[in-house]
Amino acid sequence: MAFDIDMIKDVYSKMPERVDAARNIVGKPLTLSEKILYAHLWDGKTDKAFTRGKDYVDFAPDRIACQDATAQMALLQFMQAGKPNVAVPTTVHCDHLIQAKQGAVPDLKRANENSHEVFDFLASVSKKYGIGFWKPGAGIIHQVVLENYAFPGGMMIGTDSHTVNAGGLGMVAIGVGGADAVDVMAGMAWELKFPKLIGVKLTGNINGWTSSKDVILKVAGILTVKGGTDSIVEYFGPGAKNLSCTGKGTICNMGAEIGATTSTFGYDDSMERYLRATDRAEIADEANKIREYLTGDDEVYANPEAYFDQVIEINLDELRPHLNGPFTPDLATPVGELGKKARENGWPIKVDWGLIGSCTNSSYEDLTRASSIAQQAVDKKIKPKSDFGINPGSEQIRFTAERDGILKIFEDLQATIFTNACGPCIGQWDRSDRKGDEKNTIVHSFNRNFSKRADGNPNTHAFVGSPEMVAAIAISGRLDFDPMNDTLINEDGEEVKLEEPRGIELPPKGFAVEESGYVAPVADGSEVDISVSKDSERLQLLAPFEPIGNQIKDAKLLIKAFGKCTTDHISMAGPWLRFRGHLDNISNNMLIGAINAFGKKTNFVKNQLTGEYGGVPDVARAYKAEGVKSIVVGDHNYGEGSSREHAAMEPRHLGVVAVIVKSFARIHETNLKKQGMLGLTFANENDYDLIQEDDTFNFLDLDQFAPDKQLAIEIVHSDGSKDTFKVNHTYNQAQIDWFNEGSALNLIKKENAA
Ligand code: F3S
Repeated sequence: MAFDIDMIKDVYSKMPERVDAARNIVGKPLTLSEKILYAHLWDGKTDKAFTRGKDYVDFAPDRIACQDATAQMALLQFMQAGKPNVAVPTTVHCDHLIQAKQGAVPDLKRANENSHEVFDFLASVSKKYGIGFWKPGAGIIHQVVLENYAFPGGMMIGTDSHTVNAGGLGMVAIGVGGADAVDVMAGMAWELKFPKLIGVKLTGNINGWTSSKDVILKVAGILTVKGGTDSIVEYFGPGAKNLSCTGKGTICNMGAEIGATTSTFGYDDSMERYLRATDRAEIADEANKIREYLTGDDEVYANPEAYFDQVIEINLDELRPHLNGPFTPDLATPVGELGKKARENGWPIKVDWGLIGSCTNSSYEDLTRASSIAQQAVDKKIKPKSDFGINPGSEQIRFTAERDGILKIFEDLQATIFTNACGPCIGQWDRSDRKGDEKNTIVHSFNRNFSKRADGNPNTHAFVGSPEMVAAIAISGRLDFDPMNDTLINEDGEEVKLEEPRGIELPPKGFAVEESGYVAPVADGSEVDISVSKDSERLQLLAPFEPIGNQIKDAKLLIKAFGKCTTDHISMAGPWLRFRGHLDNISNNMLIGAINAFGKKTNFVKNQLTGEYGGVPDVARAYKAEGVKSIVVGDHNYGEGSSREHAAMEPRHLGVVAVIVKSFARIHETNLKKQGMLGLTFANENDYDLIQEDDTFNFLDLDQFAPDKQLAIEIVHSDGSKDTFKVNHTYNQAQIDWFNEGSALNLIKKENAA
């Protein structure tokens, strides 16, 4: 048994009293999100109503989950905190470092050879500090969490932005940077701005070709990649009850794509069924005892406008299947309309690959729905025109799907079954039909489709859809194929039509697994020795950051990023994942994907000291070597995407002292604060236009850095002229203390020592 029933019983024993107290203090009925948040206050005292979108609140999460790429830096940081054990149940999942190439067996073998140093490090740190360890091949973090650890009404944080997936089982589960996870592992509170609440009322029923995935593809189209910022999205209504638990997981998973803090659903029969099917009847029995506390109050759902900050209503009866993309997950197009749009925009119609699985869509229901389409291709003699790749989400799903003949159906279509790991979803894909930089199209059932995300090629146009739609499009080989209306010609020259997909929510014979890949924590790991070689190129022990200080003068502009600048642009994934545990080495990818506003090129910026141009990390290192501080300027929603704190640690390591942007994505802004840097926003966003390539920055009043107080910055242009502009910030006093100490971790250590 991987889950901790005593911890869950403890949460449930406190929940009714805390929720009732919160209802009294707030003075009105509560949403589910509020119930979970108020039930997890750090001090357990429900004596204050918090202002949504404003108050910073300390919480006590029940669990932590880390994936291998982010766990390295998180655990390297935790090792510095001087604690004997993690304070909260924690798991590490090895899923990001496995490249998809030939198929599960050879790919896993190669990953175990190439990354053994990292896997061994994670296993030994887990053993030493009481952390549950999931070996490479055991599965993708969020699928494994949903199958084993998520529970209704719980609060979890995870060092991966798709931690939000666990909202499918009624949690408030939030993606954080490794530094936040380290705080909680070290027994500290976890701080979050009390979120705003978006209610999504679902009516009607999913039917035909439409799936749960289409709910979130539609919501992404409505809210865009920024629309969920600082908000929890809570789904409710009769349509929500009719979705499977894993379908709810898919919807919550892609809440990350609208920038939402998280998404969640109230406890219902589908969750109970899933808990029982995944061998957690004990949790279902406990949840049933406090059922009304694990969902929003009736009055809230009857009159949502009065309780949510924003309400969206979707009638599932009318919802059509969508494909979102390319290059951004919020570009939503109903399937029948995609051909016209593709032709207008010059997107290649021919589809080269259909990829199914990932943490987003690899449930039993997903695989059965997709395989019901694949089976028709076999039965109707339609030769697929695209290649197929499948990434099962966990060994339990893979084993069960193999036992039930589901994988065989895909194999009959020559699909490659990759390892139970992230693979192409995170650029870990050695693509057999490598396209160079050629324009091409792929469809997948993952969540993200930023440029270069899957295969490193900026000209790969990736579209996100449901697994069954991906199967249909891949079989047709055409982006403009509409399986609801179009026909295909089979190998006998006959015109055939695909019928609607059919899925099975849960395996009739139950889930099964032989080797789950789980290593339980040991009671006493104090004797475990952890060694990191000085010569390692993968791992590097950390040294504390020096405080930046309150006198920033003569800092040079490093880059003025133009347009979209996600954490993939700031700290690229793909081959760079190898260096996630080595700060100096991975810093060589810092901002190499960002477009410089001057010249509109990537990784090409001016070194003001020499007048020459070079790569961003090289110029940053040159400034650092001369003792010159540097500044990064950015556009809107800077740092959207993943929770990786490397995107903050790298600039910190290379001497960047402030990132000044039009607006931030939440996690990245917090990560900058944790590393003791300045994350600032233009008070007047047009001041972005003042910044010139040769600018020098002087902070005028940083010695008066205080909550809710703007800062003033002077820029000196190359002709000697000057401009002064104001910046806003969201630092509270505790976060200003992090800045003053050099990092949040420095402060933890100081407090531990005291
Ligand atoms: Fe992995 Fe992609 Fe999910 S990287 S955790 S499968 S979003």
